[in-house]
Amino acid sequence: MKIQVAVLFGGKSVEHEISVISALQAMNSIPVEKYDIIPVYITKSGEFYTGAPLREINRYRDIPALLGDCVKVAFVPQNGRTAIVRTPGKKFGNNTVAIPDVAFPIVHGTNVEDGNLQGFLGTLGLPYVGCDVLSSAVGMDKYVMKSVLAAEGIPVLPALRFRASVSMEEIAGKAEAAIGYPLIVKPVNLGSSVGISKVSDREELFTALDLAFTFADVVLLERAVVKLKEINCSVVGDEDGAEASVLEEPVAQDKILSYKDKYMDGGKGGKTGGKSSGMASLKRKIPAEIPDSVAAEVKDLAVKAFLAMGCSGLVRIDFMLDMAEDKVYLNEINTIPGSLAFYLWEPAGVKYPVLLDRLLSLAVKRARKQSELTYSFDTNVFAMGGGFGGAKGAKN
Ligand SMILES: Nc1ncnc2c1ncn2[C@@H]1O[C@H](COP(=O)(O)OP(=O)(O)O)[C@@H](O)[C@H]1O
Ligand SMILES: [Mg+2]
Repeated sequence: MKIQVAVLFGGKSVEHEISVISALQAMNSIPVEKYDIIPVYITKSGEFYTGAPLREINRYRDIPALLGDCVKVAFVPQNGRTAIVRTPGKKFGNNTVAIPDVAFPIVHGTNVEDGNLQGFLGTLGLPYVGCDVLSSAVGMDKYVMKSVLAAEGIPVLPALRFRASVSMEEIAGKAEAAIGYPLIVKPVNLGSSVGISKVSDREELFTALDLAFTFADVVLLERAVVKLKEINCSVVGDEDGAEASVLEEPVAQDKILSYKDKYMDGGKGGKTGGKSSGMASLKRKIPAEIPDSVAAEVKDLAVKAFLAMGCSGLVRIDFMLDMAEDKVYLNEINTIPGSLAFYLWEPAGVKYPVLLDRLLSLAVKRARKQSELTYSFDTNVFAMGGGFGGAKGAKN
């Protein structure tokens, strides 16, 4: 009997479309001799659909028509398992569409990559691939992530954070005193460069804050690294051991890599170019052109950060090299990176199907480990009677 994998993708996130591309790529590479794939598309309003047409990229041009050819479903606990069930159910006949053994979230951005979806799956008791609730949540909030990693001795750029309720003048005053220009303004929890600006004076800062606050309630300000080289590294594993991939150097012309740079220039010189190839279409150098000693330092920091955050599965960690100061800073962790960063494993001979099999195996391993933990005592306290002092004292 093959292992039943529910691949979850889409969701209420600005990176919805990128997730569709990442998931379709992965579904085409999950080894069919070992796994059966159940595609589960999460719409932008949070409904779940399943059906074979979800695996055809061209169908996403007309989503109402696509969904019309699919089945709307819900996840329902059933006899100690989790069933994917047709909703609303038919009055007669079987409404169970599938009973997955493991879920594979291939989603990007807030609401889905940030622990929310992971918590939903955990509550259902459905094993899932990748980072758990805590590491996903910490990885999504750039400020919290910096705090956790700084405490573990990983170099990060110090940052200030502000809520939208603070006046622009106060933000500018504090940022000018603590950081100075040029500085970077970014929403605290977004991805794909959405809402990020580099500013050189107060006027630009105000415009940048206006923009960033349209995407998040909290923004982060940090020093702009002027002589910047960006280096990305994927890490695979879990708390028992993790390894770093080859390094990539995304190529931009002295500017913030935009959403368009990352996803919409496919086929124009991208390494594994071609339309709809997601992150794989970004212009990049693999391996990164940096001295061996710096590469070793980046890989070492990547594995340390992965373990410090309690990650599992596959992540991509992005670094900034400050070429003026000769310093390495960890910039961000993507707990479910675009294209699952498969292009960073292939150069080392790890084919995508092998990588996906490893991630699914790690999920099964974690589920087995968790099932050995005790979640309840076999006594029913309510049946024991008396002595609790009523509901008021229940917690003590
Ligand atoms: N402190 C900084 N100095 C210079 N450039 C930066 C800085 N922070 C971010 N950038 C640029 O903005 C891009 C997006 O920022 P990042 O923090 O990676 O957010 P996202 O999650 O949107 O990818 C980076 O890839 C880099 O090009
Ligand atoms: Mg980034």
